[in-house]
Amino acid sequence: CGIVGYVGNKSSLEVLLGGLRRLEYRGYDSAGVAVIGEDGSLSTRKRAGKLAVLADDLEAHPMADGQTGIGHTRWATHGGPTDVNAHPHLSADGRIALIHNGIIENFATLKQELLDDGFEFESETDTEVAAKLLGREYEVGDGLPNALGRVVSRLDGAFTLLALHQDEPGVVVGARRNSPLVIGLGDGENFLGSDVAAFVEHTHRAVAIGQDQIVIITPDSVEVTDFDGNAVEAQEFEVSWDASAAEKGGWSSFMAKEISEEPEAVANTILGRVVDGQVVLPELAGLDDVLQDIDRIIVIACGTASYSGLVGKYAIEKWARVPVEVELSHEFRYREPVLTPRTLVVSISQSGETMDTLMAVKYAIANGARTLSICNTQGATIARESDAVVYTHAGPEVAVASTKAFVAQITALYLFGLHLSRVRGTLDDAVAAKQLSELQSIPAKIEQVLTNAPEITQLAKWMSDTRAVLFLGRHVGYPIALEGALKLKELAYIHAEGFAAGELKHGPIALIEPGQPVFVVVPSPRDPNSLHAKVVSNIQEIRARGARILAIAEEGDVAVLPFADEVIRIPLAAPLFEPLLTVIPLQLFAMELATAKGLDVDQPRNLAKSVTVE
Ligand code: G6P
Repeated sequence: CGIVGYVGNKSSLEVLLGGLRRLEYRGYDSAGVAVIGEDGSLSTRKRAGKLAVLADDLEAHPMADGQTGIGHTRWATHGGPTDVNAHPHLSADGRIALIHNGIIENFATLKQELLDDGFEFESETDTEVAAKLLGREYEVGDGLPNALGRVVSRLDGAFTLLALHQDEPGVVVGARRNSPLVIGLGDGENFLGSDVAAFVEHTHRAVAIGQDQIVIITPDSVEVTDFDGNAVEAQEFEVSWDASAAEKGGWSSFMAKEISEEPEAVANTILGRVVDGQVVLPELAGLDDVLQDIDRIIVIACGTASYSGLVGKYAIEKWARVPVEVELSHEFRYREPVLTPRTLVVSISQSGETMDTLMAVKYAIANGARTLSICNTQGATIARESDAVVYTHAGPEVAVASTKAFVAQITALYLFGLHLSRVRGTLDDAVAAKQLSELQSIPAKIEQVLTNAPEITQLAKWMSDTRAVLFLGRHVGYPIALEGALKLKELAYIHAEGFAAGELKHGPIALIEPGQPVFVVVPSPRDPNSLHAKVVSNIQEIRARGARILAIAEEGDVAVLPFADEVIRIPLAAPLFEPLLTVIPLQLFAMELATAKGLDVDQPRNLAKSVTVE
């Protein structure tokens, strides 16, 4: 869910709706606002559906505006996406409004306690329980922050809460545990947001709020305390994102814009990390001893980020000779993994807030492993929890399904692999320098792949009634097959599966029937492992059974021509770096097919960009 709070001299509704628009990627099945009006009354408005439904409703039936307000965009957990279940929720006397991101795990027990006490509930949400509890605690008479402190110390689970009280205009209070919350510092105004996108159009000065902390903002002050009310020191940071970076800027969708930004996402991630032809990651400067000493790397991530980890595994093992396992965050910590101080757990997360990954990182720390985060969002929780962070510099990614962050993650893993092999002395300097210069040539090659877009749009249009698509790849092409399939599921709602090409004959080949489209990521014929010939044989096996072959192959590879119905060309690149090129046509294909079906590519149904619940 996305959260925004405002106190200041502007129209709250405008600030809140602007912030929610930028946070909508965090969830978009309902939205709501609460504002203390000029006349001192508290009004709320909430609607199921995307933010536009709420905005239209406010336009048609204006509500009293004022200078204190909170807003929420929801990704439903407890209770379906209805008007009633949307946030804000109110205290029993209707004087407190509260919004929430996360899950209150003990809400059923608390709800029973309140029911026994005579409270009534409108919604099925865990949030309303917190709102009613806050109302009850407020009656003690020591103000909203203290009441909130008592409420949160009774809650289990993950939450960010924001609340305001009709009798305390000019004050918004917030609390967080395991869910994100950031302060935006303005001049005569202050902001709260799930991330800096909420207020970046108003200020670039931000303060991250720590675990189990409470924040109180007024137009002229910001106070941070622990749950017991003791003041804590908070650190200000500068937001480097430009507000316009999070605008569509003439593109038909954020995704189209973000795919077009992939050359820069890779180039900017490399920028400033090369010294004398070698990779140097200054953020890992203090970790040389750790990196020399580790005997194993476990990469943890979810969704697209996990496939970047799979690509990274090939490079890191090859260069640094350290065993790498890649595991989904939500499986990792429930299988009692073997962790020692010589295990490095590398988490990968665009948002840095994915709850499954955050919990896995905490588990790793608690069990003695060392942790490194690869993250795209400054000051995100996972980055802050980890021993070190290597930021990807993809810029803000707004479309829910990840594209440019994926290529930036892969790039960061290559850089990390080269850094690690330098520290461990496993790679000859000249070889490392050669790899690095190959990597530096990739952004220009991505530009070239992007010029194929019209061809892919045409292909997607022809295939817009396709019911199932298979994706095959080998070696570093295998994770790309998985990612190609995921993109198609996410964006076009088409059944899609990715397989390792070698595995085909062990089962999936039974799926092949006449006309079945199969994308094949063809390894380079120059590949020293000579997998090319094997994949071409795989193509022939499925072609013989009627499959329609859509090959992604390097320029000049003529061996695929007799067997492919379509060939999408990528420029020559070092085989290990080809994923940065081969994934682009698959991203474009999924986006264009979804567009041809008339779907919303930026906000696919049922998904959220940052899943902050387990
Ligand atoms: C969600 C998104 C995916 C994303 C995954 C991991 O499920 O819909 O696109 O890959 O989370 O997100 P993260 O922010 O941790 O990279």
